[in-house]
Amino acid sequence: MPSTKKDHILSFVLDKKTPAIVKARGIYLYDDQGNRIIDASGGAIVCSIGHGVEEIAETLAAQMKKVSFVFRRAFHTPELEEAAAKVCETTNGDMDRVFFVSGGSEATETAIKLARKYHIDNGNPGKFRVISRWQSYHGSTMGALSWTGFTSRRADFTPYLKDFVHLPATFCYRCWYGKSPETCDLECAEALENEILCLGPETVSAYIAEPVSGHSLAAASPPNAHFKRIREICDKYDVLMILDEVMSGVGRTGKWYAYQHHEAVPDIIALAKGLSAGYFPVGATVVQAKIHATIAANSGVFGSGHTYCGNPLAAAVVCRVIDYLKEHHLIKRCAQMGNYLAEKLESLRSHPTVGDIRGKGLQRGVEFVKDKQTKEPLDPQMHFSQQIQDEALLRGVHIESSSGCDRGQAGDTIIFGPPFIITRNQIDDMIDIIDETLSVVERRAGF
Ligand SMILES: Cc1ncc(COP(=O)(O)O)c(C=O)c1O
Repeated sequence: MPSTKKDHILSFVLDKKTPAIVKARGIYLYDDQGNRIIDASGGAIVCSIGHGVEEIAETLAAQMKKVSFVFRRAFHTPELEEAAAKVCETTNGDMDRVFFVSGGSEATETAIKLARKYHIDNGNPGKFRVISRWQSYHGSTMGALSWTGFTSRRADFTPYLKDFVHLPATFCYRCWYGKSPETCDLECAEALENEILCLGPETVSAYIAEPVSGHSLAAASPPNAHFKRIREICDKYDVLMILDEVMSGVGRTGKWYAYQHHEAVPDIIALAKGLSAGYFPVGATVVQAKIHATIAANSGVFGSGHTYCGNPLAAAVVCRVIDYLKEHHLIKRCAQMGNYLAEKLESLRSHPTVGDIRGKGLQRGVEFVKDKQTKEPLDPQMHFSQQIQDEALLRGVHIESSSGCDRGQAGDTIIFGPPFIITRNQIDDMIDIIDETLSVVERRAGF
């Protein structure tokens, strides 16, 4: 029986009670009613190594007994040093310093602040503007929401947001320039140069983007040459290139970082989610050596941060998760299972509403449309993707749904991000359930 106790949780949908999860193992969640649920989205594309890994729990418990907290302005711990070294090592030396925070929003905000600080210390205090993209997501604190272009998440809070520039979304399925992959001339990359010139290069500090998008565009990513061109433009105008790898980082796309799919190394990356695989709240802003060196040689201080930045519990978990990913060859596995998931998703194309299937590794999205030829989106009032999420849950799959990929007004999507340990049979089970769910929701919608 569901609990009859008075509820004091302020939920996402306020009058909707979510299931109570009492146990989680591997790719499965178990609720208090005895239901087993496949975690097809790995929480919110977080749980990369799977649920219930004993040794991570043991690492955390051991660290708690050793040192649970020291304040970073006065002390550090060996675990923090080790975690920073391990993160830099996974970038093959592209990055040199790590500022640990407690989540993705803090990581992107810190990235913007570090960019600003770099320019001040480099003798360019006029550089402050941030350029981002529509239908991006960089977090929900006011700064992060200001660079975010996810319309629905910004809407209620716009009076509090900084009015920085958002370029057209990098979204090939609904290209804002009316191009197809065959005719693409990297217009969305070129738009950055135009914008920098119009704003005045001497005022532009940083460009921030997701290499593979999250909920806002359901795993859309620009063509391969895109980030190489972005890198050239950023270099030309001394604008720092920040990649928000909060979702795509730490293995999710089948490489340690999504930027490694492209011939372009960013100046700063923002991480969270997979960095602790969900075992502790942590994020990180990771920078190239030149950024640290410039600040160190000038003001010598980065006066930002939060109480829990660099705490030893998070650091110990980060170390163990990185080792675990390596010991179990899970990044390679993510790439392999990602290919298999992509293959299986193709079987959904025969559904009348499946308009696009996209993504990299185990970060994959499906977009639903009313008309495949015209790409006309479904009526937002139908809440089509939310219906899929609700119906799939009844059948034992948790899949994250989203809407608004079509310029914030319409566009239904779901996003897959299962743990890397998922097997082929489990992918088959998951897609069978989504297939059946989709048929039910389509029938109900009159298809
Ligand atoms: C790309 C990206 N950046 C930033 C964030 C914000 O991270 P957090 O929710 O941990 O603050 C998210 C969260 O979904 C994300 O996907």
